[in-house]
Formats: sequence, structure tokens, C-alpha cells
Amino acid sequence: MKGIILAGGNATRLRPLTKVTCKQLLPVYDRPMIYYPINTLVSSGIRDILIIVAPTYSGHFLNLLGSGKEFGANFSFAIQDSPRGLADAFIVGEDFIANDNVTMILGDNIFDQDFSKEIKSFKSGAMIFSKQVPDPERFGVVEFDKNHKVINIEEKPQKPKSNYCVVGLYAYDPRCVQYAKELKPSARGEIEITDLNNRYLRGGELKVNLFDGLWEDAGTFDSLIRVSNYMASKQNKLKK
Ligand code: TTP
Repeated sequence: MKGIILAGGNATRLRPLTKVTCKQLLPVYDRPMIYYPINTLVSSGIRDILIIVAPTYSGHFLNLLGSGKEFGANFSFAIQDSPRGLADAFIVGEDFIANDNVTMILGDNIFDQDFSKEIKSFKSGAMIFSKQVPDPERFGVVEFDKNHKVINIEEKPQKPKSNYCVVGLYAYDPRCVQYAKELKPSARGEIEITDLNNRYLRGGELKVNLFDGLWEDAGTFDSLIRVSNYMASKQNKLKK
């Protein structure tokens, strides 16, 4: 299993904090945001990690993270020339993925949970994680039938069919590269990971893991301060 951290994007919602740096380098309490997704992958037993960044601040990531030795990992870096969408990670990462399975985590997604059991037991198809949230319309939303079977995933629906949203941690077999290449850009001009997930779902090969632990997409002022406070109180409790 290889790992990808997608850490490009525009971070428009965090301007002006992101005017002269990028989101995943901002502090979340006592460490740069990207340390958290790195830790999620490394603690799941993933060692080979590709970090995909935007051109402007790519040098900062290299300076900060280096070879990955400090994290017990082996980092490679790739540049995404423009933010073409989350599924573009598998096109940018084609050579890195080669014929292996891959777990992708978004560079601004923060968890406080161990996913090693699920990730280590992944064999083929696709696996995503879903959690109940009060504002599902901001995310990909899972639709269930009356037997709790997943029947569709809808990207940012105006009328969500459930409050289970898809979080930014996904595992795929190497077919994700070809499938991503076949996706058509959405109305907002991005190739959508929701379309990739639906492709696996239609083939009967998408597993959805429901979970209930901490998850923040730290891309807004409110979620950034919330997750910083959470990590501060966690660390302070550990010190006592
Ligand atoms: P988003 O939060 O959806 O996008 P963004 O970071 O550009 O922020 P904003 O909406 O405020 O402009 O992205 C989620 C994560 O994925 C984040 O770590 C950035 C990354 N990303 C890429 O690296 N490339 C992309 O093409 C996209 C869409 C996102």
C-alpha cells in the first residue's frame, strides 16, 4: 500500500492567511497542518508517500519535510500545475502508484483515530470513510436504501439524502489511475473524486466505512480554530 497526500489547491476560504503561504503549512496548535495527515498514513503502516503540492510553495514543503526519515517514511514530491480536482491526484501520481494499491488523504483533513485495521485489510476495489455531520451539503453525501445499502454518492447536494458525508481518506486499487483519466470535469471544472467513487460503486466494488471519531476539514477559519483547540487540549491532558 502506497500513500498520497494531496496538498495543493487555492485555499481561497482562508485568505488572507494563505496569501503568502499555503494552507497545509499553517499551524494547527503546535505543528504544521500537514503533519497530521502524514501521521494518519504512517500510523497505518504506509511508508512510501507522495506529497502533491502546488508550484508556488513547493520548496517550502521540501524544506519542511525532507526525505521523510524524521517521520519513519520515504517521501516523494510531485507538482500539480493547477487544481484540476481531487481525482487528479491519481493522474499526477500515476508513475508513483504503478501497480500498487494507494491510500489518499487530503492535506487539510485531520483525524484523531487509527485506521490501520481497515487500511491493512484493504485488498481491491475502493474504500471510503463516512461520518455524520450537521452540514452534509458541503461535502460528498452517501445515499442509503432502506436496507442501509449504499446506492449513490452525491457531490455537494442542495438536498442531502443523508447526513453521512465522505471524508478525505480513500483507498483504491491501481485501476483508479485509468478511471480518473476517463472522468469528465464537473460543472465547476474539476474531476471529482465522487465520480470516481460512484464508478467503483456501480461495479459493486466500493466499501463505505462509517466512523464516529474526530474529523475536521481544516479549510475554514472556524474549523481551523476548532481543530487547533482540540489538539491543544489533547496535548495538555497528556502533559498532566
Ligand atoms: P479544497 O479545500 O476543496 O480546496 P482548496 O484547498 O483549494 O480550498 P478553497 O476551497 O478554500 O479554495 O481542497 C481539499 C484538499 O485538496 C486541500 O488539501 C487542497 C487539495 N487540493 C489539491 O491539492 N488539488 C486540487 O485540485 C484540489 C481541488 C484540492
